[in-house]
Amino acid sequence: MGRIPLENPRVIYDLGCGSGNVARLLADRWPAADIVGVDNSPEMLTEAADSPSRVRWEYGDLADWKPDASPSVLYSNAVIQWVPDHQELIPRLWAMLPVWRMPGCAGPDELGRETLADGGTGGKPIGSAELREAVGNRWVQDPDFYYDLLAPNATHLDVWTTEYQHVLTGDDAVLEWVTSTGLRPILNGLNDADRDVYREEYRRRLNRQYPRRADGATLYPFQRLFFVAIRA
Ligand SMILES: C[S@@+](CC[C@H](N)C(=O)[O-])C[C@H]1O[C@@H](n2cnc3c(N)ncnc32)[C@H](O)[C@@H]1O
Repeated sequence: MGRIPLENPRVIYDLGCGSGNVARLLADRWPAADIVGVDNSPEMLTEAADSPSRVRWEYGDLADWKPDASPSVLYSNAVIQWVPDHQELIPRLWAMLPVWRMPGCAGPDELGRETLADGGTGGKPIGSAELREAVGNRWVQDPDFYYDLLAPNATHLDVWTTEYQHVLTGDDAVLEWVTSTGLRPILNGLNDADRDVYREEYRRRLNRQYPRRADGATLYPFQRLFFVAIRA
């Protein structure tokens, strides 16, 4: 948010606003702007509306979302990776005059996909070939992909990656963390028996790859891609 070089945007959409934490910060940062939080989860929107704020909450699916008012800023955090086909999505949002920020590298990690390919008994695959193909797609592209899409029409383009080291605590800390995030597409695509086999084998591999530190914590590296772009 601090990297957006705008003083007086009029209408700001927070795409995939979740429970609204970021949208409320946007409202504080630009008190004169209209702020609209958009999400395709009615539960998230209800949770967002439970905390009083001046943000307007609206249902919308980014796969076919169109704004009611012309946006000055499109802001999105930890969402775009869940929406497929960035070759179509990014230019469509970009044409609406966005300034935005997006994270990268969600979805199942390499180890998660490998476990699906050879984590069954005797090194067999787990689940269906369709599931392996679906989660084999890249969720987020390399930075140059977004640069090439945005640069031709941008007056300002700032692209960077950051690798965070999440410090996790407890048993099977990485498994617990990914279960509520990037692992969902795999877990949702397996039947109960395969899910148990998968979780156990993936747990074993994760604990080997990310051993606990002397103080019991587990470090989990997590890369994000950000960009802030202003249209010419
Ligand atoms: C990890 S949360 C991020 C929430 C918020 N942006 C934040 O940073 O706290 C991802 C959100 O994206 C929403 N989402 C996922 N796919 C979406 C789509 N196609 N259209 C709109 N929202 C979507 C989910 O419902 C969820 O609230």
